[in-house]
Amino acid sequence: MRFSFTRDDFPEGFIFGAATAAYQIEGSANGVCGPCHWDTFAATPGNVLHADDGSIACDHYHRYEEDLDIIRSGGFDAYRFSTSWARVMPDGRTVNPEGLDFYDRLVDATVERGLKPALTLYHWELPSALADQGGWTNRDTALRFGDMARVVIERIGDRVERVATLNEPWCVAWLSHFIGLHAPGLRDIRAAMRAMHHVQLAHGTAMSVLRDHGQKNLGIVLNFTQAEPASDAPADRRAVETVDAIQMGWFAGGLFKGRYPDEMIAAAGQHMPDGYEDDMALISQPMDWLGLNYYTRALIEAAPHEPWPHQREVLGPLPKTQMGWEIYPQGLEILLKRLQRDYTGDLPLMVTENGMAYDDHVVGGEVEDPVRVQYFEDHLQVVRRCIADGVPVQGYFGWSLLDNFEWALGYEKRFGLVHVDYHTQKRTPKSSFEAFRAALTKGGEK
Ligand code: NOJ
Repeated sequence: MRFSFTRDDFPEGFIFGAATAAYQIEGSANGVCGPCHWDTFAATPGNVLHADDGSIACDHYHRYEEDLDIIRSGGFDAYRFSTSWARVMPDGRTVNPEGLDFYDRLVDATVERGLKPALTLYHWELPSALADQGGWTNRDTALRFGDMARVVIERIGDRVERVATLNEPWCVAWLSHFIGLHAPGLRDIRAAMRAMHHVQLAHGTAMSVLRDHGQKNLGIVLNFTQAEPASDAPADRRAVETVDAIQMGWFAGGLFKGRYPDEMIAAAGQHMPDGYEDDMALISQPMDWLGLNYYTRALIEAAPHEPWPHQREVLGPLPKTQMGWEIYPQGLEILLKRLQRDYTGDLPLMVTENGMAYDDHVVGGEVEDPVRVQYFEDHLQVVRRCIADGVPVQGYFGWSLLDNFEWALGYEKRFGLVHVDYHTQKRTPKSSFEAFRAALTKGGEK
């Protein structure tokens, strides 16, 4: 099964990439790497499905050259990866030369293969030493992140094509401190509101460091679900506005307007750190691009008898992925257009993640994943339509290059374009990878 388009159907220079994240693939027990809050979260019963952890993962730390060869063979233009803070600074402060050497080799190997390195500085492995001091609830973590950004960029900044400060700050703050599904697994409104501000401050602090260093092409990667009301009831429609305030309103509002939504401040402002207003100029300094990670929509109903935010998500009727997420390509169009209209204007947008989990199996040496091929097809058609309608989308990264450690859901959920056998570490490109290869290469050449 093939895509109905090739790269020629996209504007000249449009970037096709594949994405990963350090903790999900490297193996935190490989090389010198400090403990992080995901190690201890995973070591606590009940937090991660099947008690999986990130200690070995895809052993990418040792197999990165093979993995980069695979990306090149698919005809991709770029590789989105992240640096592990716990590897770069095992105690959150002291530089680990071996860790920096690894990213130096990785970036060289990426460039050698003609791939553009797209760096994400933070994709969730907070060093335990910083977690011990309150992690993202502590303002100091945001400032320490500026140090991490400086150390990384001084070493590899000369070869990376773009930099994102943080990946999905909503997950870092809200999912991890209010919903409690990710490390550190808190369910506390005060911790959540402090984290919600400190991740933004971390971004602003890192932006200043990177700009001072002369680094170009700076952005951040945000994630939104397309929130829609479960019914036509006014209360459900109101509940959707609240979800929007917690997601796009908070993050895009803070970053592009220097302002948090009134509803958030009215409902939870008493939990915010004192003087947060003074940080808004730093947080809203200009960026060069914005990344959007998109997977699904969320159907929302009002929960008037619960404390704010008075809403909950309900199961939708559409076909679902292995994650139980509805497949809803239109959501990508709605979000890209809203972002452009309400926040980003002419700023280049990138789809920095999009993809789906499926219960994939190797049969006769091959993995057939037609549902995933269709998923990519439909979402990439949406991207084409957005471009035709004047939305400046400049690139698209599939999530993920490899099956990997899917956080609280461990290794069961497979998002890869390439199947990983975790017993042998054998990589098997799936038919979705072949669909990309056919669309991006001409007779095996770009
Ligand atoms: C977004 C996150 O950035 C990534 O780490 C995760 O694996 C995917 N979503 C899929 O859930």
